Amino acid sequence: MGEKIYIFDTTLRDGEQSPGASMNVEEKLQVAKQLAKLGVDVIEAGFPIASEGDFEAVKEIAMEVTGPQIAALARTNEEDIVRAWEAIKYARNPRIHTFIATSDIHLKYKLRMSREEALEKAVKAVELARSFTDNVEFSAEDATRSDWDFLVKIFTEAIRAGATVINVPDTVGYTVPEEYYNLIRYLKENVPNIDKAIISVHCHNDLGLAVANSLYAIKAGARQVEATINGIGERAGNAAMEEIVMILKVRKDLFPYYTDIVTEQIYPSSRLLQQITGIRVQPNKAIVGDNAFAHESGIHQDGVLKKAITYEIMTPQSVGWPTNKLVLGKHSGRHAFREFIEKMGYDLSDDQFNRAFKLFKALADKKKKVYEEDIEALIAEEILRLSEKYRFISANVTSGTDMLPVGTVILEVEGKRVKEAAFGDGPVDAIYNAIKKATGKDSVHLVRFDVSSITGGTDAVGEVTVRIEEEGKVSMGQGSDTDIIVAAAKAFINALNKLEYRKRGKSELKKEGI
Ligand code: KIV
Ligand code: ZN
Repeated sequence: MGEKIYIFDTTLRDGEQSPGASMNVEEKLQVAKQLAKLGVDVIEAGFPIASEGDFEAVKEIAMEVTGPQIAALARTNEEDIVRAWEAIKYARNPRIHTFIATSDIHLKYKLRMSREEALEKAVKAVELARSFTDNVEFSAEDATRSDWDFLVKIFTEAIRAGATVINVPDTVGYTVPEEYYNLIRYLKENVPNIDKAIISVHCHNDLGLAVANSLYAIKAGARQVEATINGIGERAGNAAMEEIVMILKVRKDLFPYYTDIVTEQIYPSSRLLQQITGIRVQPNKAIVGDNAFAHESGIHQDGVLKKAITYEIMTPQSVGWPTNKLVLGKHSGRHAFREFIEKMGYDLSDDQFNRAFKLFKALADKKKKVYEEDIEALIAEEILRLSEKYRFISANVTSGTDMLPVGTVILEVEGKRVKEAAFGDGPVDAIYNAIKKATGKDSVHLVRFDVSSITGGTDAVGEVTVRIEEEGKVSMGQGSDTDIIVAAAKAFINALNKLEYRKRGKSELKKEGI
């Protein structure tokens, strides 16, 4: 069986930093509950000092999610660490994760600090964190571009101050497997008190090597891996957790280690995250992409039918791919509906469940067959987004070959009803102009607009994904409805809400390069 590799999930912290991935408190809670089912060892729930929303989400997760350790990120400032503790103190096993940059590039240009000052700050931060909890992780940001002997020094002192996990991030996705292997070995051999801490790795995917680098680090002695579902994260993303876990499982001959991940929960976790963030994985994405187990060529199909192992190195069931598509209809009752949503990874309160059931019944009246994808869209939009600044009430467009399209919307803006109408070049343009008027968001640009039908047939629920931009900040939004114009309006409003959340929450930290 070999040694255990601890899985530290940072989907809700580093993952959430990817453009368009911001989630509200309720959405983060749903993801955290699913991560607990997935069996991750640590959930990094957020960066509490970053915003009120981050703080609330971390606190809520700490109070509600049991099983994994709950971590919160903090810079080495006293204020950050106290705030992180305030948010996670309710967890059964809370972890404070504090970090400071160690590369000369970051020290000189970002922090304007000497190595000695950084060392002192790191030690003080770990000591302060240890006064709250004995579960403290210290990260040397940009470790892979840092001086190796300075890393030895700072990790030695951090462990002496009480860090139980030391993390060696490849912050900018710069390293390659051999170099990273050598660095981890160097630390293992030269940090004198390394036996008192677990070595952790945290890889970004700028050169497409995040997973490979993480695996080589394990070979060199790392025992905690930081990763995200679907590999979401800053820029090109973080190491994809599902890939690391399945490589360790499928290639045990080369990697004699194990994780506590319930691999059958991988696919539901991936779907849930895609639905909530609107960030879809590419069809050929390993493990969770639509084509990951699709055999197109005749020779392959023939082989798989005779014996799956001919072309499948793991079964779709082992990562939780549904064998049969679940379908509900208007006669389905509460019990079937509950089972259906639990299988999809949602864990709703009674009130949320009752509202979702009512909406499902209304949808089933319009559509003969209701698929998983329809319910996913319904829950993501109508249940989890309730507390946002802008809320969709209704949208109508009049358009045709001989008239200028005119759109009318009714929204709730911070609880107040607003009605507006506007002309446009087409029906979507008209409705978007009306929404811009109602929200006062004139400077928002639509960068991308995609429509797809999430289930088949002319009664299908259509899904619209938009990407918008305002003053250099981007945001993605998703909306679905049997009426495509309504779906477009909902997607735009969802993107505006995310933009709002992003702007409100992170502006102060952005100034400091976080
Ligand atoms: O990439 C990075 O260096 C980080 C640290 C805060 C761990 O995300
Ligand atoms: Zn990172």
